[in-house]
Amino acid sequence: MTAQSSKTVLSLDSEAVLSLKDGINFKNSPDDAKCYIIYKENGELKACKNQCKHQGGLFIKDIEDLDGRTVRCTKHFWKLNVSTMQYVNPPDSITQDELGKLSCHFLNLKGY
Ligand code: FES
Repeated sequence: MTAQSSKTVLSLDSEAVLSLKDGINFKNSPDDAKCYIIYKENGELKACKNQCKHQGGLFIKDIEDLDGRTVRCTKHFWKLNVSTMQYVNPPDSITQDELGKLSCHFLNLKGY
């Protein structure tokens, strides 16, 4: 059995966290320029890598998304509901891996 380790992939100070808008936010890490998606609703935060689980495409804002919860992959156009981390197109398919260790005052995202 191998031990699972984690590392911080993105840190935001309290000012940066407060500046997040409700709904979907795209943030780049200053360390390696990788992009992360942070979803904010009622002070709760969820985050994931901006990397599609299908074949690694990048997500962008979905212009057909009326409730501000869905992003669209640029490769094959799958859609991800970031509020649930569930892919909605194709329906009932895979789930995006959520990054852990979030707080509203200081964001310190851990990736595994
Ligand atoms: S890589 Fe995202 S839908 Fe195929």
